[in-house]
Amino acid sequence: MSSSTEVAVVTGASSGLGRSIAIRLAKENFHLVLASRNEEKLRSLQVEISNDGGNSTVIPTDVSSETSVDNLVVKAEEIGSVSVVINNSGLGLFSNISEHSIEDFDRQINVNLRGSFLVSRGFIPGMKNKQTGKLVFINSVAGKWGYPFSAGYVASKFGLTGLANSLRNELREDNIKVISIFPGAIDSPFWDAVNVNFPREEMMTSEDVAETVVHSIMMPGISVLEEIVMRRVQGDF
Ligand SMILES: NC(=O)c1ccc[n+]([C@@H]2O[C@H](COP(=O)([O-])OP(=O)(O)OC[C@H]3O[C@@H](n4cnc5c(N)ncnc54)[C@H](OP(=O)(O)O)[C@@H]3O)[C@@H](O)[C@H]2O)c1
Repeated sequence: MSSSTEVAVVTGASSGLGRSIAIRLAKENFHLVLASRNEEKLRSLQVEISNDGGNSTVIPTDVSSETSVDNLVVKAEEIGSVSVVINNSGLGLFSNISEHSIEDFDRQINVNLRGSFLVSRGFIPGMKNKQTGKLVFINSVAGKWGYPFSAGYVASKFGLTGLANSLRNELREDNIKVISIFPGAIDSPFWDAVNVNFPREEMMTSEDVAETVVHSIMMPGISVLEEIVMRRVQGDF
């Protein structure tokens, strides 16, 4: 492929919101780079994108590993010009504070925050060289409000808000748009292992949220949707 190929990287593309974003973005003529750990699920998404007439490459990646992210950056930049990076990989582990283990806390920080730092840091030099790019952070309403029983998740997402805000101000002069999306509950496998009985059918769909993400990416000209809070009309559960 060539430098005229516009590449969009989606982390956490194997499931839920990342999967929906990849499918939707492939319709905008980006070559999608599908990155997460589960290669089998990424390959099945690749087939779906291809059946829809889109193009994609699978690059198995653990965003919490520096070597794995370095590999993602090198391979994605070989495909073409990486103009969109979507930091979407994430997990939530919910419990009261006395049952919140250090391992659970560290896992959320390592994937949700450190992973987004590593991936962004890897692709920013290429965007600066071209003086254009879009860096998207899939945050959460938990990146703005301190929900209970969510200490590690809220801390990781507040950290992500700070990371995005700092990068936005650092990268304005390089014409790099930094977009943070703060969704409320989305019906996805995220909730499979969570011990709460929020009705899944009353959550937003990943397709609806993906539509908003893609709208923010496709916004032309000199403006940028810096922050979007997206909730169901009834509010939080
Ligand atoms: N669902 C909600 O209610 C909700 C609401 C607000 C915000 N969000 C945010 O939306 C994002 C996507 O969540 P989702 O709802 O789509 O959850 P999901 O269906 O559980 O998907 C999570 C994705 O993260 C990837 N991931 C986890 N650990 C990873 C690692 N170490 N390296 C690379 N990828 C990793 C998983 O892929 P592999 O297993 O293949 O690695 C998977 O593709 C998350 O950042 C989440 O915090 C979700």
